[in-house]
Amino acid sequence: MKVAITGANSSVGKNLLVRLSKEKDITIVAGVRSEKVIPELPKNPAIKPTIINYDDIQSLEKALDGADIVIHLAGILIETKHSNYANANIAATAAIVDAAKKSDVRSIIFISVVGASPESRNAYFRSKGVAEELVLSSGLGARILRTPILFGPNAAGSQAIIGMISSGQAKLLGGGHYQMRPLDIDDLSEALTILCSASIQDQVTYELVGPESAPYRDIIEMTAQVMGKTITFGNVPILLAKFGATITSILKGGGITPTVIDVITQDEIVKTNADSALGITLTPMKQTLEKMTSLGD
Ligand SMILES: NC(=O)c1ccc[n+]([C@@H]2O[C@H](COP(=O)([O-])OP(=O)(O)OC[C@H]3O[C@@H](n4cnc5c(N)ncnc54)[C@H](OP(=O)(O)O)[C@@H]3O)[C@@H](O)[C@H]2O)c1
Repeated sequence: MKVAITGANSSVGKNLLVRLSKEKDITIVAGVRSEKVIPELPKNPAIKPTIINYDDIQSLEKALDGADIVIHLAGILIETKHSNYANANIAATAAIVDAAKKSDVRSIIFISVVGASPESRNAYFRSKGVAEELVLSSGLGARILRTPILFGPNAAGSQAIIGMISSGQAKLLGGGHYQMRPLDIDDLSEALTILCSASIQDQVTYELVGPESAPYRDIIEMTAQVMGKTITFGNVPILLAKFGATITSILKGGGITPTVIDVITQDEIVKTNADSALGITLTPMKQTLEKMTSLGD
């Protein structure tokens, strides 16, 4: 089996490369945008780092040559001067779908987010929703996995929590009362590995979240307990945070914006969790926090 991955240097990508390379008779094309990130990728004879350029369809077609399936991971929540929702989330997806249609790739898996919708008033959720539509209307066999915040090695969400606990205080947006349902990044990689060996001919959208839901503040408290540390909490009013984010994001040309604040303070709620449909056993939250913090030591 040959699997092509975009955004292979992302936190999800690196975790997935390790998991997928344990499969027998597999070749993994690890698509990245620059040479300089190749040394960060896990080393394994099955992993073939490949430079891709989303503005150059030939580079994409070359990366997909002979692949059975493509897993499109590239995408962002936090915009920068060079990466925005239009190019990172929409145009990159359009380019990979085009290249997949022109190659022998039979199916595509796309990582989206809980809350994605082409009609959303939130620019991030809208960009992911538009990207989902591009994938679903491609004519390829497709699986979309909508995920919540991911916890795992190098995942931004885990690093933020460990950073707050290490500093001894957490100033939380709106007091951190929003419900989160974090998914262990290893569980996501397991689900993706299972999907790679399935025969995907139709198009299905799944929502895959962690086994437990808790307010963000409680998750930080639980993590602090696991680390044997104490933490004090402060409240940042959401309106005030949005006002500050508007100014700093204009000055910096990216970073935390009111859009990002709306995303991270949204309750992560799904109708049906896809764990049983996908045939995976989810890691209990406490175990995920233990893994996450042992990496933070
Ligand atoms: N982490 C989470 O909690 C979470 C939650 C829900 C959904 N997701 C989704 O899961 C996927 C992986 O997330 P992650 O957190 O592992 O990502 P990440 O570590 O932040 O990495 C982002 C990836 O996107 C690529 N990228 C950035 N700008 C791009 C552009 N303009 N065009 C093409 N590629 C671009 C980056 O490549 P360069 O290094 O070359 O910039 C990198 O490979 C994303 O689609 C994300 O939206 C993540």
